This record gives sequence, structure tokens and C-alpha cells, in this order.
Amino acid sequence: MILVVGANGMLGRDLMTLLGSRARGVDIDDIDITDLQSTERVVRALHPSVVVNCAAYTDVDGCEANVETAMQVNGEGVGHLAMATRTIGARLVQISTDYVFDGAKGSPYLEDDPPCPLNVYGESKLAGEMNAAVNPDHLIVRTQWLYGRHGKNFVETMLRLAREKDELTVVDDQFGSPTWTVDLARAIVALIDTGCTGIYHAANAGFCSWNGFARAIFQETGVDIPVRGMTTEQLNRPARRPLYSTLDCTRLEQDAGFRPQPWRDALRAYLVERTT
Ligand SMILES: NC(=O)c1ccc[n+]([C@@H]2O[C@H](COP(=O)([O-])OP(=O)(O)OC[C@H]3O[C@@H](n4cnc5c(N)ncnc54)[C@H](OP(=O)(O)O)[C@@H]3O)[C@@H](O)[C@H]2O)c1
Repeated sequence: MILVVGANGMLGRDLMTLLGSRARGVDIDDIDITDLQSTERVVRALHPSVVVNCAAYTDVDGCEANVETAMQVNGEGVGHLAMATRTIGARLVQISTDYVFDGAKGSPYLEDDPPCPLNVYGESKLAGEMNAAVNPDHLIVRTQWLYGRHGKNFVETMLRLAREKDELTVVDDQFGSPTWTVDLARAIVALIDTGCTGIYHAANAGFCSWNGFARAIFQETGVDIPVRGMTTEQLNRPARRPLYSTLDCTRLEQDAGFRPQPWRDALRAYLVERTT
């Protein structure tokens, strides 16, 4: 049995759907990963062969103001899961982020590139990666720019803003790969089923800026609204963000035989799915 922790989150819910009867799901009402005893109790009682941790404190700007919570959930919480899974001989799958990188490389990041987070969220997720390794049987899946039907996400935000405003201004100097949580769930299952361990990158193929992503959303939905550009500096958010953090997913394809579809195809599939 595969235990999904954070099963009510955006990724967790799509992963639960994909895994079907292979999975059990728990979330904050059943387990608090910041509490070692709670974590050990749940993991011991359910005795899974694999634990996929989708639970996290994912508010990137919120992490800047709540450093302790970020480190507790994204760092120490993963350590608790690593200890609990190691004790029962289960594999730990930890979901991580492109924000462990600073975005200065100028080409897609490989799994072995040195991390250098720019913000508290990235630091806390990097701590989580290191703590996951407390269980030697671990798999770390780094991803980025997620959207899915079960969470607040960029696609829905853009569509809502387009209903409320006459024109939009969206950052055009940050580049990455928008990634549909359904495709990420497929990649995670492929990695689990092929027994992969270590670090893997998983994101939809190709890349764009947030501004390019917004334009694509409006093109695909037939929404006619001017989209102006702005710099990250002008937006002035609390957390610094990497400017180019595309992930090279070659290892995923080579080892697990899974090739994520281009981001624009995934966006089309999402737009169909959200109306069903
Ligand atoms: N979203 C992105 O763009 C993105 C990009 C790269 C990587 N990731 C990573 O992908 C994973 C999934 O992200 P997501 O966007 O699907 O997350 P999400 O929607 O925010 O879901 C996270 C879930 O974890 C729960 N949770 C929070 N603290 C917990 C705790 N102490 N114990 C147990 N459960 C707890 C949350 O409950 P509450 O809602 O009640 O807090 C929520 O149900 C995370 O590891 C994230 O860091 C996300």
C-alpha cells in the first residue's frame, strides 16, 4: 500500500485518484508531520510500503514571515517521516521544488547541480531533501509551477482576474515550466513502479515566462484581454525568486520511461478536465 501524506492538497488529490485502491490518504486532521509521535503512530499503524509526502507549507511569500513554521513543516516534518519510514522499512518519496536553485545557471537544472535557494521556502525544502536522506530508501522528486483542479493556482487566478479587470500586468522575466499536477502524479507513479531512488526532476516539457503562460491561458480559453509585462523587481514580492529555473527531466525519461508532455498540451488537457 502507498500512503499519501497531504492527500487533500492540490497534488495529493490527483495522486490519490491516479493510485486508486493502491493508496491510502492522510492529511492534517490525521497526521501532523511536525510532531514525531503523531507521524510515527500513523506510519506504524498503516504500515505502507511507500510513503509519498505531498504535505508542505507552500505559501512562498508566507514562508518569509513564518520562518519557523516553514522549517518545521518543510524541513523537520520530512525528517520525522524519514525516521518513521526507515523504522518500518518503507520507501519515502519527498516532493521538492525548483526553488532549491537560484536560477542563475542559464540552462535547465540537472539533479546534481548545486542547490542555492534564494528564499526561506527554498531553504526549508532543501532542508527537507537532506532530512529525507535519513531514510536510505528515499526518492526526491523536484517539480515546479504546479496547477491542478484541486488547488488555488495560476490558471484560475488569471481567469478570475480577467473577469474582474480590463487589462492585466504579469511578470515577464521569470521562466519555468508550468506543470499539471496530473502529469506530475503520473511521473511519480512511474518512478515508484520502476523502483527509482535518489533525486529526479519532473515537470512538463518546454518553458515560458509567467506572462507567456498567462497569454497561453487566454488564447486557449478565447479570452480577449491585453496582457502587459512587468519585471520581478517591479512586482516586489517578499520572497526572491529564481529567474530561470527550468528542470532537465532526462533522468526521469531514461530511468522510469516517462516523458512528460509539453506544457501547452498539458494546459489544454487541464482546461478540458476542469469543466468536466
Ligand atoms: N504548488 C507549486 O507550485 C509547487 C511547486 C514546486 C513544488 N511543490 C511541492 O509539491 C508538493 C505539493 O504541493 P501542493 O501545491 O499540492 O500543496 P498544497 O495544495 O498546499 O497541499 C499541502 C497539503 O499539506 C497539508 N499540510 C500542511 N501542513 C501539514 C502538516 N504539518 N502535517 C500534515 N499535513 C500538512 C496541507 O493542509 P492545509 O491546507 O490544511 O494546510 C495541504 O492539504 C509540496 O511538497 C510542494 O512544496 C509545489
